[in-house]
Amino acid sequence: MTTLVLLGLASLALGSVTIVDPSNYADLAADTADNALLANYWTDNGGPQELIYNITGPYYFSATDGVALAHQVLSVDANDTSVVVITEDSAVNLSYVTVVKEGYATWLNQASFFGVNAAVNVANASTAYIDHSNITVHDGAANIYAYGTGSAVYVSDVDLYSSGPVSHGLYAAGNGTIYANNIRHYSGGNRASSFSGDNPGGYLYVTDAVAHTAGIGSATFYTLGKSYGTDVVGRTDQAPSVFSDGAQSSVFVRVDLTAGLLAGTVLFCSADRQSGAELSFTDSRLTTLGSDMAALWFGNVIADVQLVATEINTTSGILVIANSSQVTQAFDYFAGSEENSAIQPAEVTVLVEESDLRGDLVAYNGSSIAWTLASYSSWTGTAYSATGKGYLGVYLDETSTWTLTDNVELINFTNGDSTHSNIISGGYNISYDVTADANAYLDGTTVSLSGGGILFPY
Ligand SMILES: *[C@@H]1O[C@H](CO)[C@@H](O)[C@H](O)[C@H]1NC(C)=O
Ligand SMILES: *[C@@H]1O[C@H](CO)[C@@H](O)[C@H](O)[C@H]1NC(C)=O
Ligand SMILES: *[C@@H]1O[C@H](CO)[C@@H](O)[C@H](O)[C@H]1NC(C)=O
Ligand SMILES: *[C@@H]1O[C@H](CO)[C@@H](O)[C@H](O)[C@H]1NC(C)=O
Ligand SMILES: *[C@@H]1O[C@H](CO)[C@@H](O)[C@H](O)[C@H]1NC(C)=O
Ligand SMILES: *[C@@H]1O[C@H](CO)[C@@H](O)[C@H](O)[C@H]1NC(C)=O
Ligand SMILES: *[C@@H]1O[C@H](CO)[C@@H](O)[C@H](O)[C@H]1NC(C)=O
Ligand SMILES: *[C@@H]1O[C@H](CO)[C@@H](O)[C@H](O)[C@H]1NC(C)=O
Ligand SMILES: *[C@@H]1O[C@H](CO)[C@@H](O)[C@H](O)[C@H]1NC(C)=O
Ligand SMILES: *[C@@H]1O[C@H](CO)[C@@H](O)[C@H](O)[C@H]1NC(C)=O
Ligand SMILES: *[C@@H]1O[C@H](CO)[C@@H](O)[C@H](O)[C@H]1NC(C)=O
Repeated sequence: MTTLVLLGLASLALGSVTIVDPSNYADLAADTADNALLANYWTDNGGPQELIYNITGPYYFSATDGVALAHQVLSVDANDTSVVVITEDSAVNLSYVTVVKEGYATWLNQASFFGVNAAVNVANASTAYIDHSNITVHDGAANIYAYGTGSAVYVSDVDLYSSGPVSHGLYAAGNGTIYANNIRHYSGGNRASSFSGDNPGGYLYVTDAVAHTAGIGSATFYTLGKSYGTDVVGRTDQAPSVFSDGAQSSVFVRVDLTAGLLAGTVLFCSADRQSGAELSFTDSRLTTLGSDMAALWFGNVIADVQLVATEINTTSGILVIANSSQVTQAFDYFAGSEENSAIQPAEVTVLVEESDLRGDLVAYNGSSIAWTLASYSSWTGTAYSATGKGYLGVYLDETSTWTLTDNVELINFTNGDSTHSNIISGGYNISYDVTADANAYLDGTTVSLSGGGILFPY
């Protein structure tokens, strides 16, 4: 059960509103053993990287146009087999159907990169409309998989339930696209995200959705490609709300995401560091529950973030961590050079607009965070380095304010208010690097701040 305060009502303190997801009516106890299975990608290396199966299932449509299945129960219980396959330029619709999938995937790479064993596999420039349907999987399988350039799946008014490892709700890979509206997903298993992309990229457009995952590694959005979420309520019991691996893009509008493990969002590169990762939240809320969880975490990546009219609620008091680190394939801890010898620091820019934020910025081991407050934003917090030297820059426009909660040492400090009266120092000091180009305007001067602190060069 996902119990949340609806967006916009929080300040009215009306209490919590209960939102129903498929875990409310599924027999969770019957799936306990299934959900305890771990995806063992990192020990057996996932198996062959190229497709070794003929993707097939009892409802198989190849080069088939104009078919619609309605008001039927479609099922299979077999390993490495789908229930419905729609492929080779087909156009097939499913309406008011119940799909039940049982049976395991032998190789994780086959399931991940090609959708072997997915309940519904739409591939190779095919189109499917799936509406008013229930899709249930056990033993680890994607509910709906889209594969290949030109493949598009339109999903509406659908409930997705899954148990077992790697049972993502909506899963797009090989350039496939899924458009979903009014859906609910629950997964109990390991590495079973609600909305996921995979190599070389999948495109997910999700609106009006409720997503709840219980397992480790199971995010609301796992971005590999592009994820667009609008009006999504997401709860991840043992995962971040968002994983993003590489130079991917995640764009969220009016989402309310709550995360239970690692951080609110985790942007990383599992191989060499890439630049161009993007993340934005508009009119949204992000909540992290763990006492060590940052809202936004970055490792081995160069990323740009935008937060517009967004609330962040952390238990840890940490807004941003940038680290020379990545998440491992076990998805429950951060690791560095011991697992990836090419690991590099994170470089992050965050633009905050129309938002009031509280919490700290922490740059680990050579990482940098450039933090811009603009358009009537406010920030209460400080910034510091951990595990060696980090690089911190703060940029305030004249409409934004900063309330210090500790002394802070910045590499760059830029303020659109030339009198610095938008800083409430509380007696704390800001020191700035006198050699940095960004600080030339300060001309090495020391400035008194309201509240008794000072701005001074080092
Ligand atoms: C795939 O189908 C082809 C043609 O029907 C067949 O020759 C081949 O043996 C099948 N491969 C597998 C792995 O089943
Ligand atoms: C499938 O659904 C689409 C969208 O509603 C519709 O345009 C198309 O005609 C449908 N095809 C069939 C065979 O029902
Ligand atoms: C299906 O996969 C499971 C799990 O790997 C295995 O135990 C079982 O023997 C397989 N079934 C068949 C018919 O191969
Ligand atoms: C998609 O096309 C590839 C390349 O031709 C082929 O290997 C694969 O079997 C096809 N997938 C499906 C589901 O038909
Ligand atoms: C995905 O797109 C890339 C770039 O256009 C292309 O090279 C590749 O063949 C596509 N993959 C599939 C499975 O369609
Ligand atoms: C799916 O099944 C559940 C349980 O029977 C039901 O409550 C729900 O309305 C169904 N969803 C759809 C879209 O038919
Ligand atoms: C922050 O989140 C916690 C945990 O969900 C919740 O109890 C608390 O009310 C939230 N605080 C605000 C100000 O929304
Ligand atoms: C920072 O990175 C190191 C090395 O990967 C890792 O051991 C540590 O857990 C990370 N800490 C955080 C808070 O990211
Ligand atoms: C700091 O990061 C470098 C790579 O950027 C890495 O080699 C080193 O092990 C890291 N140190 C710690 C303590 O994590
Ligand atoms: C500091 O400013 C320089 C340009 O003057 C820029 O290259 C660097 O990324 C900035 N660093 C931070 C942490 O703001
Ligand atoms: C700020 O700097 C002044 C001048 O060096 C010093 O007296 C004061 O103790 C500093 N404040 C804090 C909180 O460290």
